[in-house]
Amino acid sequence: MKAYRAAILRFADDRTALYEEDGLLVIGPDAQGQPVVRAVGPYRELVDRFPGLSITHFPGRILAPGFVDLHIHCPQTDVIGSPAEGLLPWLENYTFPHESRFHDGEYATEVASFFLDELLRHGVTTALAFATSHPSSVDALFQQAQQRRLRFITGKVLQDRFSPDGVRDQTEQSLIDTEALIQRWHGVDRLGYAITPRFAPTSTPEQLRGAGELAARYPQVWVQSHVAENLAEIAWARELFPQSRSYLATYADFGLMRDRSVYAHCIHFDDDDRALMRETGAAAAVSPTSNLFLGSGFFDYQGADRVGYRYGLASDVGGGTSFSPFHTMLAAYYVGREGQTKPGLSLSPQHLWWQHTAGAAAALGLAGEQGAPSIGNLNPGCEADFVLLNPQATPLLARKTAQARNLDELLFSLIVLGDDRVIERTAVAGQWWPAQAAG
Ligand code: GUN
Ligand code: FE
Repeated sequence: MKAYRAAILRFADDRTALYEEDGLLVIGPDAQGQPVVRAVGPYRELVDRFPGLSITHFPGRILAPGFVDLHIHCPQTDVIGSPAEGLLPWLENYTFPHESRFHDGEYATEVASFFLDELLRHGVTTALAFATSHPSSVDALFQQAQQRRLRFITGKVLQDRFSPDGVRDQTEQSLIDTEALIQRWHGVDRLGYAITPRFAPTSTPEQLRGAGELAARYPQVWVQSHVAENLAEIAWARELFPQSRSYLATYADFGLMRDRSVYAHCIHFDDDDRALMRETGAAAAVSPTSNLFLGSGFFDYQGADRVGYRYGLASDVGGGTSFSPFHTMLAAYYVGREGQTKPGLSLSPQHLWWQHTAGAAAALGLAGEQGAPSIGNLNPGCEADFVLLNPQATPLLARKTAQARNLDELLFSLIVLGDDRVIERTAVAGQWWPAQAAG
């Protein structure tokens, strides 16, 4: 067992964080040998319950759950910052040509290694990620995540039409490849597979049908795609699938909406779409830096809460502009505030932080339900993925956080002013990463 003394941040529910100024976090193996939180609470109360425990003290630092990124594209690491007149030209001019390079397994491995290190450097310990349509890009990403002992989910992109040579796959083979990858990787160590139709327009009905059949056959596997991001995309999807009630409903019609299905963006929804999300158990990956960068629109938080469906935060790199959860939380605040196209509101710092940790974990079905692992929080039983935050990381942060009168003011200072400099260390499965940084 190991223990850490510092301030500790965790979550009671979607709007309420628990904060211990002088806390103790005790890490030890669970019945399966997985490192988990064994105890957490005030240092004074806990310290006597664990005599002989070796305790590392981090004065002035905050231990918090590792961040969970609900939607990101590993192969778009180098696509960040590519300007375009909106989503479809961005895909055609930058993204598809770049993704075609991932047929080369060696290249895919080099990018996967950099990508995962960059996530960890920013305090992100779990992601639901797109690979490319090349199965070797999936193997590369899983292998690199396994080496780092991450709880990590990815899958082969399915796109068998309206895609250029080099990324377009073949209907029958794409489904055979998907099933082989599920059998090779899903449930190995901390890895999980996601069936990954890119978005409805670039899949034939046959490919979507096959994906839906796999989703039914493997209910523990995730499903990920994009929906209702951009008006031109929506018009295209409606043209191609006119029988469905809406763009979102197309996915339901092919059996692709269920628990453990995560749809990026979910911007241009009506209340029937929101109800479909709620009824099917699907979750939205809100991607605010991407939506602002590509000019896609503004996620309607009030609409989501009124109808009551699950959502969490995502970087959507490379449409998104940053790996940093702080930048994503700040952009989510901007998007919430926007009040011209929808009701504007001020999302609370605790709710913003929850969306990128415990909320994103709940959206993945990884909040301990029915024996599932629990991530994105630091309550007893949660897997030991956490970050050590330095609220004095920059002169302005030190000055600003010293003046915080309450938890909301402290968290909001970090959200507005923070970046990778705040992430002093990241622990994966109870071990500091990288190992040589441990002390
Ligand atoms: N829709 C289909 N593919 C993509 C993608 O790679 N990024 C974003 N933001 N939207 C998409
Ligand atoms: Fe995306």
